[in-house]
Amino acid sequence: ATATAVAVGLSGCGLAVPAQISTIGDVAFDRPLAIPPIAESHVDADGTRVFSLDAQAGTTEFEPGVPSETWGFDGSYLGPTLVAERGEHVRVDVTNSLDEPTTVHWHGMHLPAAMDGGPHQMVDPGATWSPEWTIDQRAATLWYHPHPHGATESHVRRGLAGLFLLHDADERALGLPSEYGVDDVPLIVQDTGFSADGRREGPQRGYAGGLGDELLVNGTRGPYLEVSDGLVRLRLLNASTARTYGFTWSDGRPVELIATDGGLLEASVALDRVVLSPGERAEVLLRPTPGERVVLRSELTAEAVGSNRVIAATNGDADSFDVLEVRAADVLDPAPSLPAQLASNPPFDPAEVATTRRFVLDDSFEINGHAMDLGRVDETVTVDTLERWVVENDTDLPHSFHVHDVQFRIATIDGAAPPPELAGWKDTVRLRPHAEYELLLRFEDYADPAHPYMYHCHLLWHEDQGMMGQFAVVEPGQRATMTEGTPHHG
Ligand code: C2O
Ligand code: CU
Repeated sequence: ATATAVAVGLSGCGLAVPAQISTIGDVAFDRPLAIPPIAESHVDADGTRVFSLDAQAGTTEFEPGVPSETWGFDGSYLGPTLVAERGEHVRVDVTNSLDEPTTVHWHGMHLPAAMDGGPHQMVDPGATWSPEWTIDQRAATLWYHPHPHGATESHVRRGLAGLFLLHDADERALGLPSEYGVDDVPLIVQDTGFSADGRREGPQRGYAGGLGDELLVNGTRGPYLEVSDGLVRLRLLNASTARTYGFTWSDGRPVELIATDGGLLEASVALDRVVLSPGERAEVLLRPTPGERVVLRSELTAEAVGSNRVIAATNGDADSFDVLEVRAADVLDPAPSLPAQLASNPPFDPAEVATTRRFVLDDSFEINGHAMDLGRVDETVTVDTLERWVVENDTDLPHSFHVHDVQFRIATIDGAAPPPELAGWKDTVRLRPHAEYELLLRFEDYADPAHPYMYHCHLLWHEDQGMMGQFAVVEPGQRATMTEGTPHHG
């Protein structure tokens, strides 16, 4: 399926003029998929696992011999994959070798607010920031990316993003594929533009933010993946700043979903497609047959396609992309058999809700009628109590709602129980137009009246526009004390 699009020039908020014709969907699949390296770490005398990340500028050849200016961690594009085990105490020494301040946020991680890497934890050029915390949550596919207020979209789009994988004993006991890069394969999906000669280009501007008309997977343009196992686990991350995907297989086989943002589902779910808005993750299983080639594609339904439209573009409802070609060896290692029950995820008991709050996202890119203010704490939450957050999308197009520090559960969508793919642990949820999502959340362990966490739209341009708010987690009766109007620099 190909369609033509009139691309508009660099990030001009819809003011740019049409610049070129490009095609969508005819990918050659002539390059092996790059696999981000596992981050090196060492364990200190006191038992802390220590990682380091260095945010730096560089050049990347998405096409051989054609350098593009990019940013990355410990390299020129994306970053290494951090891996840790539940119960480990970890520290990450984050050095900023860029010439402007940035931050690193641990998306999906339960940790103290001062370690969260939001817009209050700015790292100045030349400085090193060393957050540490104890991993205390289920095995999951998390990720990290910058969060500087007003500039998150551009920092992520330039290439600053990576995965943070958590394991635990329950997950290891299942016998899921776990050989990183072999049968347990990360797929960081991003959209971008390319000039005719293969230089990476800035985004087109749509309602959702910056959109590109081609994909990169782990930074590879046109990737294929050779597999020799009868069971392959793919960890999908939508690290795009604005684009939503509907991942599906080219031959129509069901997509076997086993995990969402915060960990495993109770049982696998067979789906036509897995829809991921920016920031969301999914783990899926593929059971290749010997010698086959099958293509992971993205196809969205008309209802879902809306936010991907580019202002002044003519790509209409065409929204399909080839993502990755999987090439199975002629002889495959036999697939292990998995237990039918993957996890136990009892729901929160709504009778325990202590506080109900309402969040309305509107067309001015505001929440509850306010744009983000770094000096204002919007909500004060009592630690270790159950909260109900009713999140309403009061616009004609989808958004993507993310809450820091927790994995939450979706209790209802427009009053109905969520479908199985949305019934597990989530930290980011795609909000359909004019729909209302009832979330149940418990903010545990870390009360700190002086440091707020964020909630926001994960369409990063919307976040930059102010579609974000702050909440402090406090002991019963405490008040938030964060009053400064400017971020801490460290
Ligand atoms: Cu992935 Cu507040 O962000
Ligand atoms: Cu939004």
